[in-house]
Amino acid sequence: MLISASEILVKAHKESYGVGAFNFVNFEILKSIFESAHEASSPLIVQASEGAIKYMGIDMVVGMTKLFAQKYPHIPVALHLDHGTSFESCKNAIEAGFTSVMIDASHHSFEENLEITKRVVDFAHSHGVSVEAELGRLMGIEDNISVDEKDACLVNPLEAEVFVKESKVDFLAPAIGTSHGAFKFKGEPKLDFERLLEVKRLTNIPLVLHGASAIPQSVRESFLQSGGDLKGSKGVPFEFLKEAVRGGINKINTDTDLRIAFMAEVRKVANENNSEFDLRKFFTPAMSAVKSVIIDRMKLLGSANKI
Ligand code: G3H
Ligand code: 13P
Ligand code: ZN
Repeated sequence: MLISASEILVKAHKESYGVGAFNFVNFEILKSIFESAHEASSPLIVQASEGAIKYMGIDMVVGMTKLFAQKYPHIPVALHLDHGTSFESCKNAIEAGFTSVMIDASHHSFEENLEITKRVVDFAHSHGVSVEAELGRLMGIEDNISVDEKDACLVNPLEAEVFVKESKVDFLAPAIGTSHGAFKFKGEPKLDFERLLEVKRLTNIPLVLHGASAIPQSVRESFLQSGGDLKGSKGVPFEFLKEAVRGGINKINTDTDLRIAFMAEVRKVANENNSEFDLRKFFTPAMSAVKSVIIDRMKLLGSANKI
């Protein structure tokens, strides 16, 4: 049975550990995620973006996730909508069986973000579904960024306090300097941990780190060895992920690491045998590589052995 992400994250918030929220776009990634949670004895959040839903079909997204949840009944698991762009998108997901949604109205004004988030919270809570919202813009902080520029794009802790009180949102994604994808930082990686601590102190709810892929050395090397190009790529260092968890982050959104790990293995098989066309020969090593990334991450974030 799927449960709300709030159930999983309130426990993580109380006990100060992080739970990976892993994106999937197909059966193979979803299978790898569930098998990892099983092997690491970790609670789990699986999430699908609107693009992933369009690609798989919402019935398949919900159906496959429910079947895996049935297969592993001991794993506390939530199905979360990642970056819902409208009330309608969140409503559709909830009606289809998602147990958690994100309404991402962070590009609107504070007032508009609050208004749309409140509407989603009302609807979601009446269905027992949890809600995530975002404040600030996801972007890397340059070394020479001014205080004013930082204030203009990152989360404002005082606004976060008001936003959480008024919207009754279950968990919040504060922008503290991460961005999506494989190219997160131009210079040295930098996150605003002081801002994070202030948001946690003023809101005291589970917090979310978007753009949390680390691009570990082993994954980068594997992709490069397969002939892939990741020049200039930079992820969030492991130490930063740990510090983020210590600072109050409980949901750690991870997609890019899984994509790179998966595709490196697919590329290798294609390079090594250009007459191979049995899909399973590509996907079996790809799933092993993804599992290894996820199990390591569950240990790092502290969710392993929390079932
Ligand atoms: O936050 C974005 C996620 O990585 C999902 O990306 O829209 O390409 O599915 P997507
Ligand atoms: P990454 O691109 O760092 O994996 O971030 C994923 C994410 O934030 C999904 O919402
Ligand atoms: Zn995100």
